[in-house]
Amino acid sequence: MKKALILLLTMVMAVGLAACGTSDKSTKASGDKKVLVMATSADYAPFEYIETGKSDEIIGFDVDLAKAIAGKLGFKLQVKDMDFNGLVQSLKSGQADLAMAGMTPTPKRKKNVDFSDIYYSAQHMIVSKKDSGIKTLEDLKGKTVGVQLGSIQENKAKEIKKQVAIKIEDRNRIPDLIQELKSGRFDAAIIEDTVAKGYVAKEKDLSEFTVSDDPKEVGSAIAFPKNSDLTAKFNKELKIMKENGELDQLVVKWFGKEK
Ligand code: ARG
Repeated sequence: MKKALILLLTMVMAVGLAACGTSDKSTKASGDKKVLVMATSADYAPFEYIETGKSDEIIGFDVDLAKAIAGKLGFKLQVKDMDFNGLVQSLKSGQADLAMAGMTPTPKRKKNVDFSDIYYSAQHMIVSKKDSGIKTLEDLKGKTVGVQLGSIQENKAKEIKKQVAIKIEDRNRIPDLIQELKSGRFDAAIIEDTVAKGYVAKEKDLSEFTVSDDPKEVGSAIAFPKNSDLTAKFNKELKIMKENGELDQLVVKWFGKEK
């Protein structure tokens, strides 16, 4: 009797799971609205971060933009925090429907995931202590340079290393890079401009300079699992938001200027 019951329960659960697993594994119904799971690395103000002390909610430009588009498409958004280096894998394994983390659509990533159009452009910056005397790439000779693991700033560091002898160190989270800089374990860190400027404004002992690159190559786009039907849907809404000024409004809200 007990065995039969367990068997029955197992069957019911299997059917239930199979039903959830139809198209998008992570898309689940909540109330009458479907939920999209967005993976992010919430270490990246003003794109995605947690205002510690105020709430444990993840906020930022990317979150607002994703919520806006998801809403227009009739979805609710659930945000899931993880290390930047795990984002692509979270899409591949079906743990998330999209990833938004100021992520640049590089050729290498495009082998594993699809990207929307670019929604914001960026530059690399070298951040160091004001009194370090580091003002040009040449000044980095013999220095320890920190980067976020799996970021294009890590690639940039490798590129710099071909010209200037630097030691590259990586960390999973951006605030760790800043900590290591402040404690003197790192001489410099490569961080994208908007995020770097935020830290420099807050931490008076830090300064920064831009390493020029084609801004288009360092822009941000939304990532989706390969062949997701969301890519085209998000692109369509993104285009409308670019045209009707909604995107600019979010830029002004989070970056304080138009771009
Ligand atoms: N744009 C860079 C990249 O794609 C860095 C993004 C880091 N994002 C973050 N949320 N920590 O590699």
